[in-house]
Amino acid sequence: PSIDELKTIFDFEYICSKILPKNAWYYYSSGSEDEFSLRENHNAYHRVQFRPRVLVNVKDVDTSCTILGEKHEVPFYVSATALAALGYEGGEVSIAEGCAQGSFKIPQMISTLSSKTLAEISEAKDKFGGQDQWFQLYVNTDRSKALDLIKEAEAKKCKAIFITVDAPSLGRREKDVKLKAKPSRENGISKGLSSFIDPSLDWEDVKYLKKQTSLPVFLKGIQRKEDALTAVENGFNIVISNHGGRQLDHTVSPLETLTEVVPLLKEKGYKPGENVEVFIDGGVRRGTDILKAIALGATGVGLGRPILYSNSAYGAKGVEKCKDMLREEIAMNMRLLGVNKLSELNESFVDTQGLKYR
Ligand code: FNR
Repeated sequence: PSIDELKTIFDFEYICSKILPKNAWYYYSSGSEDEFSLRENHNAYHRVQFRPRVLVNVKDVDTSCTILGEKHEVPFYVSATALAALGYEGGEVSIAEGCAQGSFKIPQMISTLSSKTLAEISEAKDKFGGQDQWFQLYVNTDRSKALDLIKEAEAKKCKAIFITVDAPSLGRREKDVKLKAKPSRENGISKGLSSFIDPSLDWEDVKYLKKQTSLPVFLKGIQRKEDALTAVENGFNIVISNHGGRQLDHTVSPLETLTEVVPLLKEKGYKPGENVEVFIDGGVRRGTDILKAIALGATGVGLGRPILYSNSAYGAKGVEKCKDMLREEIAMNMRLLGVNKLSELNESFVDTQGLKYR
């Protein structure tokens, strides 16, 4: 269909299910094992309901926010996903173009396992408009390689480092495994890629890595409040994430984890958005999902598959459309909620009682 006919983010997924080569579709869409977490990530958003405020002048709603001390037009960003070129040959370069082009920019987190080189993706940023880029790090058993990547990310002006901590070994994505896809015909695409990741990575290692850079460092893949607190006490920002349901299956959804993390951090005197960033990703497909996460204290919201799907279906134009649709949904629903600024949102706008009924 023509891109103008698309109405929601789900349309990109449907199109990809029809047009992508099997190896790309299985690699992108799969979750681990029974795919409980994959489904639950999105379903959890359906168990949080709004309590809108009425009789507020909402003629001019403002979707902007502050992330890492800088103004952004919207609170969402592209999360790191490996192998964007499996679905579209422009890969992460085309995603970079989509992030930059159009009426507003969004930050792009670049995966260690990108199809394109960091140099190419960073060049695309310079060419198309200079959105923020962040670097996602899988820590190599050979630490000097991890340090080299951090230095390269700094040289390419990435503005933050995200160390992925939920993947000491890769979850078993069975559709992908069954396809016995290249490059490793035995174990599917994921296993072939991930053999360098160090399963011995621990708190001392990430503290050491943090000391090697002056950039803000996030731990991506925090899934319990105790770890969130340890991370923040050690000067890290966090991404509450279960890797889009691709790692340990049957984990609590990131949204539910958020409702435990934010109150604990506040109790200990931290202020999300002021002295620590608390991002979330997994299952976000609607403007309302983003508003729910913000109301519950998230300071940035990541998109994984929606970007892979929009890029695979329509290239940079698809990514642009995806971000436009989400911003429109956010603005419209802010009016319906009775808030003019995202900073007005808080827990009073949502009812989370349904979350515990899985
Ligand atoms: C990912 N994700 C991921 N995370 C990461 O830190 N490094 C990576 O290389 C990848 N690669 C990757 C590939 C594919 C195909 C997917 C779907 C996901 C996880 C990603 O950053 C993010 O946490 C999830 O994708 C968020 O969930 P949604 O938005 O896909 O539901």
